Amino acid sequence: MNLLDITDLGPDGVRAVLDLSTRPIKKLGRPLDGQGVALVFEKPSNRTRQSMEVAVVQLGGHPVYTRGEEVGFDVREPVEDIARVMSGYHGLLAARVFRHEVVVRLAATSSVPVINMLSDHSHPLQGLADALTMLQEFGSLKGRTVAWVGDYNNVARSLGEVCAYLGAHIRFGCPDGYSAPDDDIQRFLDMGSPSVESSVDPKAAVVGAHAVHTDTWVSMGQEDEKAERLAIFGDYTVTESMMSAAASDAIFMHCLPAYRGLEVEASVIDGPTSRIIQQAHNRLHSARGAMAYVLGGK
Ligand code: CP
Ligand code: NVA
Repeated sequence: MNLLDITDLGPDGVRAVLDLSTRPIKKLGRPLDGQGVALVFEKPSNRTRQSMEVAVVQLGGHPVYTRGEEVGFDVREPVEDIARVMSGYHGLLAARVFRHEVVVRLAATSSVPVINMLSDHSHPLQGLADALTMLQEFGSLKGRTVAWVGDYNNVARSLGEVCAYLGAHIRFGCPDGYSAPDDDIQRFLDMGSPSVESSVDPKAAVVGAHAVHTDTWVSMGQEDEKAERLAIFGDYTVTESMMSAAASDAIFMHCLPAYRGLEVEASVIDGPTSRIIQQAHNRLHSARGAMAYVLGGK
């Protein structure tokens, strides 16, 4: 199976990945024993590259980091030729791409599982680490409220999907034109979220929330829109005063890299409610769990 989106897992698959993520490494066996894993990056990465490389080793495999331009999806050769060739070398292919379509075409052609390590559409590995972190904090997400403030982006979509499967209420506080589309809101309800609310008022999204998430206002590939975006998102900084309206046990989360003074105040991201380092460290555990699962682990 492939992991292009959280929806590839379904609710039972998400629970299985989270269970595998917390299992002692020795109990996972060595599903990649003697095999390679291609990790192709069209964009920079710290957490995803490091956690995936280490997780591959923990599962007995050998990671082969490759820069996007070395394979040149549809530039040096067609995505389909790359998938057919690379899946003969490796037990698993993973890619971070600009266009989501590229991971879809890789998966359609590859003879081994394909994992999306972030596209313009989604970031499922991040969503899994976010869920793991919130479950460590709250035990269960059923009936909890998860708020997203700022830009409804790839990270927000995967977070929405995983929260919906785990039964959380979801609230978005995003500016007009940068908020969750109606069909995503409907999907989250259909997937199990008891309520999904969307407002242009970030404070309305945060009131009483148990986890407050945000991300950069300028994702990789949107650098040309930076000035425009900074103006649009100016009122969407997660502040201490905003956090004081959240639940008394609320936590702040951010997938990183973060820009202090823009999407979040330094006193919030570096303060007592912040779980960003635990969240980043969970990328390793959830990467291991996700790979073990797509390789057939139960
Ligand atoms: N959160 C995340 O995916 O970080 P990197 O871009 O550093 O991999
Ligand atoms: N939304 C960000 C996430 C980075 C991990 C981006 O796509 O650049």
